[in-house]
Order: sequence, then structure tokens, then C-alpha cells
Amino acid sequence: MSYYKHHIFFCLNQRDKGEDSCAQHAAQAGFDRCKSRIKAERLAGPGGVRVNKAGCLDRCAGGPVAVVYPDETWYTFVDEQDIDEIVESHLKRGEVVERLLLPPNVGR
Ligand code: FES
Repeated sequence: MSYYKHHIFFCLNQRDKGEDSCAQHAAQAGFDRCKSRIKAERLAGPGGVRVNKAGCLDRCAGGPVAVVYPDETWYTFVDEQDIDEIVESHLKRGEVVERLLLPPNVGR
């Protein structure tokens, strides 16, 4: 049994010198939206959901990316609607959002 039912990590990595990274693709907005939705839904805490910042997860080509544990489910997202769907479907009901899955071969 895991401490959190779902633990979601958002890459917020910012690279300098013009290199692409999740921070250049609204990763912070996705993290903020998820955090506020989980709080509003009163899902935060042990036995519930934990939303964390992460550094580079080495899957930058699909950025912005987030990963849900213990399910090991990788997502890519574009806007608040995508985050809302991950919260409603996966983090509340345990149902994977197929349309937002990061393809398995996407790396750095
Ligand atoms: S910069 Fe986000 S996964 Fe590498």
C-alpha cells in the first residue's frame, strides 16, 4: 500500500541558452492548476493525492510532462482542460486518460 494513492510529479525544468525544456511549454501553469484542483477537491494528503515539482525527467521531447505513481503513467498536456481531465479521470477515479499518454519511445 503506498502512502499516497496517487503521487504526480510535474517537470518544471528550465534550460538556458535556448535549449528546449518543459518550463517553456507552460509546465508551471499545469502544475499550479493541478495543485489548486486537488486542494479544491480536498484530495490532498496521505491516502489521497500529492502534487510535486520535479526537475528534468529526461523525457523532454514530449514536454511538458508529468508522471503519476505508483501507476507509472506518463502524461503530456497542453492546457488547463487537459489537467482537469487528468484530475477528474485518473487522480479521482483511477482511470487513465488515454489521449494524453506520452508515447513510450519519447525520450530526451
Ligand atoms: S525538461 Fe522536462 S523532462 Fe526534461
